[in-house]
Amino acid sequence: MRFLALLLAVAGTTLAIPTRSSHVVHETRAVNPLEWIQGVRLDASQIIPLRIGLSQQNLDRIEELLMSVSHPESPTYGQHMSPDEIVDMFAPSNESINAVRDWLVESGISPDRLKVSASKGWLQVNATVAEAEDLLKAKYHVYEHPSGAKQFGCHSYSVPEHIQPHIELIKPTVHFNHRPNPHQKFKRDGVLGSPGFNGPKKSAAHVTITPTLETCDQMITLECLRALYDFNYTPVATDKNTFGIVEFTPQAYLGPDLDLFFRNFTPSLVGKRPVNVLIDGAFVQTAAQSFDYNGESDLDLEYAMGLTAPQPVLLLQTGDIFEGAGFDNWLDAVDGSFCTFEGGDDPTQDGIYPDTQPGGYKGQSCGIIAPPHVVSISYGQDESTVTAAFANRQCTEYAKLGMMGSSILYSSGDSGVAGNGGVCLDSTKQPATNGNVFNPGFPVTCPFVTAVGATQVNPGSTVNDPEGACEQVIFSGGGFSNIFPMPSYQSTAVKNYLSQHTPSFPAGTFNNSGNVRAYPDLSANGANYVIGIDGQFGLVFGTSASAPVVASMITMVNDARIHAGKKPVGFINPVIYSSDFQHAFNDITMGGNQGCGTPGFTAVSGWDPVTGLGTPNFSKILPLFMALP
Ligand SMILES: *[C@@H]1O[C@H](CO)[C@@H](O)[C@H](O)[C@H]1NC(C)=O
Ligand SMILES: *[C@@H]1O[C@H](CO)[C@@H](O)[C@H](O)[C@H]1NC(C)=O
Ligand SMILES: *[C@@H]1O[C@H](CO)[C@@H](O)[C@H](O)[C@H]1NC(C)=O
Ligand SMILES: *[C@@H]1O[C@H](CO)[C@@H](O)[C@H](O)[C@H]1NC(C)=O
Repeated sequence: MRFLALLLAVAGTTLAIPTRSSHVVHETRAVNPLEWIQGVRLDASQIIPLRIGLSQQNLDRIEELLMSVSHPESPTYGQHMSPDEIVDMFAPSNESINAVRDWLVESGISPDRLKVSASKGWLQVNATVAEAEDLLKAKYHVYEHPSGAKQFGCHSYSVPEHIQPHIELIKPTVHFNHRPNPHQKFKRDGVLGSPGFNGPKKSAAHVTITPTLETCDQMITLECLRALYDFNYTPVATDKNTFGIVEFTPQAYLGPDLDLFFRNFTPSLVGKRPVNVLIDGAFVQTAAQSFDYNGESDLDLEYAMGLTAPQPVLLLQTGDIFEGAGFDNWLDAVDGSFCTFEGGDDPTQDGIYPDTQPGGYKGQSCGIIAPPHVVSISYGQDESTVTAAFANRQCTEYAKLGMMGSSILYSSGDSGVAGNGGVCLDSTKQPATNGNVFNPGFPVTCPFVTAVGATQVNPGSTVNDPEGACEQVIFSGGGFSNIFPMPSYQSTAVKNYLSQHTPSFPAGTFNNSGNVRAYPDLSANGANYVIGIDGQFGLVFGTSASAPVVASMITMVNDARIHAGKKPVGFINPVIYSSDFQHAFNDITMGGNQGCGTPGFTAVSGWDPVTGLGTPNFSKILPLFMALP
């Protein structure tokens, strides 16, 4: 021990006497790789690139910091932080860097083998498997897929207890790649571990276009939405305002589809296109055309552009055609600090750029655009497929965007209380056929995004009647997180729901403790949307439709605020749950979100895990948002 300390002093690190502590488990794999067969132990002499993600500072204050600029009663409401202030606030401390470095050196890794990334976010070392297994008290195995693909990983790993506070995660370890084959990412709809396609579902028949306000129960158009939500606003600050829609390649819009829609419903937009922001080698592909390729983008853009015209809409098209992309990739592009931390990108969950595949994008899009004031994302994956450390690292970035003044809206999913594709969990929270434990989504359970569920004009009803929860083709995603604690802003609303309308499911069906993040936050119509798609009109359903509609309303609120010399609203959740907004929503009290062999939750008066607070009445939310500083 003494000898070691002397060596350390010579090596110029620290003189502190090393503190020994026993190992504690840091991460365990989120989901067992059912389709993969565990094979032999990885060769002990093989070299693996070990990367240790260091803890960021001030994460314990993240909710407080976000609330200070977004809670309506905060004296600093709207005083958003600059990107530089965000970097300074969250950079890992020297103490963390030194503690982890000392642990590695004490364990026999010579200091000259260690590299700290430029941003200090990562400590990297090329280690043998034997060294990694010893450091992490882990066992690395080779896993084989019936397709012939191979990968390696460990089921869990440990670190000394005194090191644990200094690291967020270590790779490569438990973050198992659930995509059977990288080339199949081209069609990644709903595949475990990749962004699922909460996409619209097309009804069998193409429709003839004779929609009127009298038929909004059968066909939703811009006119129906304007009537339902009292949403009539022509923007005046379009040159100062920004509105982004995220799409993941190969999903892409078709120009002729936009024009088909605009000719019928917004003639002033014929020929208009979104402003392309191409992230990580993205391009708006037109080679592959079908509902699966064009449905999501056509829907999002036709409605976002139609509802906010003439506001230019930014298309954040993400991922090259070879590798595709995950949520962290679009975050890299709008949040340079995430990127220069080498952020949360995880080779098994996200596209890793530069893409080394032939033809792959050889750069990385890092902070290429200022975060838009509002961003709408109609994609999601199951929370059960990611580890808590991975989920937290990404969720932290949404909080940072909120601190900088952006509103991030995610659709809540289309399978009710089940996960993508109707998958549910067993009592150990693993995906299981016939599982009856609810399977919440991600990133929609992150408490720092706004989760948007789906409603419908009930069959036979008009736009003047109350809507119900969407129960046609899709069911509104909603429920309770297994990872994130309850944010303060929704505590009263959710506890009221749990005590006044206690759902009667067997213990363990969902976390009913009242201490976890519940979703969605609010909702909008998600049934029977008329869209131009592949040269025809089609009807689509989904929370995919709801998210851009709510995002359009927030964008118009920002327009009015910017015009009045105020800041954009940023993270809206603390405001919409506040008592001033109590009557600003149309409370939804009909319908449910069935799934997992159950009727799901039921929409009731007040907040519920089907439709959240309800649908916005634009005429009511606008003056309330305008009254804020
Ligand atoms: C952290 O270390 C860097 C160089 O290694 C030094 O420039 C900086 O002042 C240190 N920060 C603190 C807070 O000690
Ligand atoms: C690990 O090895 C690779 C390949 O030789 C090299 O490019 C990289 O810089 C090394 N990383 C470290 C931290 O030494
Ligand atoms: C529910 O969440 C709370 C708070 O995170 C946690 O302590 C508890 O163990 C969870 N209960 C179940 C059944 O998972
Ligand atoms: C929306 O709010 C306006 C203004 O308060 C009101 O006149 C209208 O009836 C409301 N619409 C609905 C559907 O509640």
